[in-house]
Amino acid sequence: MDPSSSSTTFILRPFKLSDADDILEYTGDDQVTKFLFMETMTTRDEALTYIKHVCMPLSWHMSICVNNCSIGFVSTYGHEGHKANIGYCVARKYWGQGIATGALKMAVKMVLKDFPEIVRLQAYTDVENIGSQRVLEKAGFKKEGLLRKNTLIKGSVVDDFIYSFLSTDVIEAVNH
Ligand SMILES: CC(C)(COP(=O)(O)OP(=O)(O)OC[C@H]1O[C@@H](n2cnc3c(N)ncnc32)[C@H](O)[C@@H]1OP(=O)(O)O)[C@@H](O)C(=O)NCCC(=O)NCCS
Repeated sequence: MDPSSSSTTFILRPFKLSDADDILEYTGDDQVTKFLFMETMTTRDEALTYIKHVCMPLSWHMSICVNNCSIGFVSTYGHEGHKANIGYCVARKYWGQGIATGALKMAVKMVLKDFPEIVRLQAYTDVENIGSQRVLEKAGFKKEGLLRKNTLIKGSVVDDFIYSFLSTDVIEAVNH
C-alpha cells in the first residue's frame, strides 16, 4: 500500500478479529461516534460483533493502521452498480495529522481500481461536521449541495451536505 500523506505512517488493510480492543478504543469515544450511525460501544464483545457482522461482510471496509494497530476505518457502503457511499473515522488522539485525508485519497484510488464499474463515490456529512467537510474538500471531493433534514441520527433529523468524487476526477498526489 502507498505510504500515507500524513506525518504519521499508516496503511489500509482488512479488519481482523484481533482488532477488537483497538476498535473499542475509538468506537467507545462519544466524540468519535457523534456524527456516525453507530452507537458508542462499551464492551469488547460489541467490537467483536461489529467486526464480524459489519466490517467483514462489507465489500470494502479497511482498517486504518499505525504499527498494525487499528486507529480508524474507511469504508464503502450502499453499492448500487455505478456508485457507492464512502465514510471514515479516526481515533481522537490521531486527529489533526492528515490521516483521514490521506486515508480517503488512498481509499478512492483503491476502490476505483477494485470496482471498475463505479464512476461515482459520494459522501454525506452533517452540516455541523466541519472537520469531515474539510477532509472531503482536501481529498478532491466536490460539494454538490445541501440536503435538508436528510438523516436520522441518534434521534435527531439533521441537514447534510453531499459531496462526490467521479472516476474522471483527478486524485491528487497521496504524499504532500
Ligand atoms: C472528521 C475526521 C475524520 C477528521 O480526521 P483527521 O485525521 O483529523 O483529519 P485531517 O487531519 O486529515 O484534517 C483535514 C483537514 O480538516 C481540518 N479539520 C479536522 N478536524 C476539524 C475540526 N473539528 N474543525 C475544523 N477543521 C478540522 C484539519 O485542520 C485539516 O485542514 P487543514 O489541513 O487545512 O488544516 C475525524 O475528526 C473523525 O474521525 N471524526 C469522527 C468521525 C466522523 O465524523 N467521520 C466522518 C463522518 S461523515
